Amino acid sequence: MSESIRVGLLGCGTVGTGVIRILEENREDIVARLGAPIEVVKILVRDPERPRDPIVPRELLTSDPAEVLDADVHVVIEVLGGYEPARGLILDALARGHHVVTANKALLARHGGEIFKAADAAHRDVIFEASVGGGIPIIRTLREGLASDRIHALYGIINGTSNFVLTAMAQQGRPYPEVVAEAQQKGYAEADPTMDVGGIDAAQKLQILVSISFGIAIPFESILTEGIDRVTAADIQFARQFGYTIKPLGIAKAHDDGSIEARVHPTLIPQSAMLASVNGVFNAVMVNSHALGPVLFYGQGAGMMPTAASVVSDIIELGRNIQRGTSGRLPHLAFHPQHTSGRVHRDADRTRCPFYLRFNVKDQTGVLSRISGILGDHSISIRQMVQDTSLPGEPVHVVLLTHTATEGDVMAALKTIETLDFVVEPACYLRVEDLQ
Ligand SMILES: NC(=O)c1ccc[n+]([C@@H]2O[C@H](COP(=O)([O-])OP(=O)(O)OC[C@H]3O[C@@H](n4cnc5c(N)ncnc54)[C@H](OP(=O)(O)O)[C@@H]3O)[C@@H](O)[C@H]2O)c1
Repeated sequence: MSESIRVGLLGCGTVGTGVIRILEENREDIVARLGAPIEVVKILVRDPERPRDPIVPRELLTSDPAEVLDADVHVVIEVLGGYEPARGLILDALARGHHVVTANKALLARHGGEIFKAADAAHRDVIFEASVGGGIPIIRTLREGLASDRIHALYGIINGTSNFVLTAMAQQGRPYPEVVAEAQQKGYAEADPTMDVGGIDAAQKLQILVSISFGIAIPFESILTEGIDRVTAADIQFARQFGYTIKPLGIAKAHDDGSIEARVHPTLIPQSAMLASVNGVFNAVMVNSHALGPVLFYGQGAGMMPTAASVVSDIIELGRNIQRGTSGRLPHLAFHPQHTSGRVHRDADRTRCPFYLRFNVKDQTGVLSRISGILGDHSISIRQMVQDTSLPGEPVHVVLLTHTATEGDVMAALKTIETLDFVVEPACYLRVEDLQ
């Protein structure tokens, strides 16, 4: 048997504990695959004294990062979360000659460029399978499995909390605040759920998917990001009448002019689409590529064991490289940057898709013709329309599906429509993807 692969753990919470559990429970299979055992030699935590899962070897715990970084390890696993001290410790680990595995999407989305540069300088690898889709092996698939193909588009349900909330609203007809409270109680949502329901977590993950699918690193803050908190029970009902369901999607598309579009928002997709049946906390990513066509990856996007399974697969990959004395086999973004310089982030105003528009208006004559006239002035044509019934004198909902329109035109038209005296409140707009 070869020499063991020695690892230091930075963090031993949900994911770190899962890593120890998998190394224990799958030991034989791991040795059979790697030809060597994986040995955890030191574990950084905030508080070594607090009660933990009995599987965690307490004698390895420390609150001093140097005890992990200075240990005789091949690989450092960062499962702390957050920006600091995670960023600084990863840079220190690389400088000391360790390879790094991280599950930290927030860190990679903001500081990936700096970390990958440091890894290149140190001739070490940083890999990150668990950072998107938890246990779904989507990173390795995009970087290696689809290396032969040209990716046209990807559509991901990559935030389980948002999917749980929209699923419960649609299936049980319950209001948004009640479902968010249940998600918090079940541990699916944080006490402050903004990162999840506001779309920020999904934007961070989409940034990573875009970088390895198209070879460009776009700032995640520049991704058009809207949360599911804008979706009401009425929108779910109207979408259903049009044959659609509303899902929290991260969307990325490559255009012929070299521009890459990226956006995160609740999206109407056909009820018949496979992604429409991805419910609850489950995640899925659909990739559409030139040769393969559509392919769907579905599974648990979070949780101790699924996420830790991805982390341990990364350790095995690095272990195999270490055994052969190699590193840097794959460019960090899966592309050599000198060949992707023509690719740019497409301005959000230029993105095009059909729109769902819901207007709350006074019930008076001429409303429809004024709205459709303004939409027409902005080159937006109507595909379908419904109007709900109202009590005399009460406002009504006028709900439209448009044909494909440009984001900038739709926003300009809505701005004008909102100034009309019969409009009771700002329009609700959602984007539509027919996933053909
Ligand atoms: N949980 C999931 O399902 C999941 C899925 C995909 C990706 N991830 C990513 O995995 C990473 C870890 O998530 P998690 O859920 O395992 O987090 P967690 O349960 O909060 O665990 C964090 C661990 O890091 C330690 N820690 C935090 N700050 C520290 C500091 N300043 N100094 C020393 N130790 C510190 C904590 O110590 P104590 O134990 O003493 O508190 C704890 O052991 C995050 O980047 C997350 O985004 C998680």
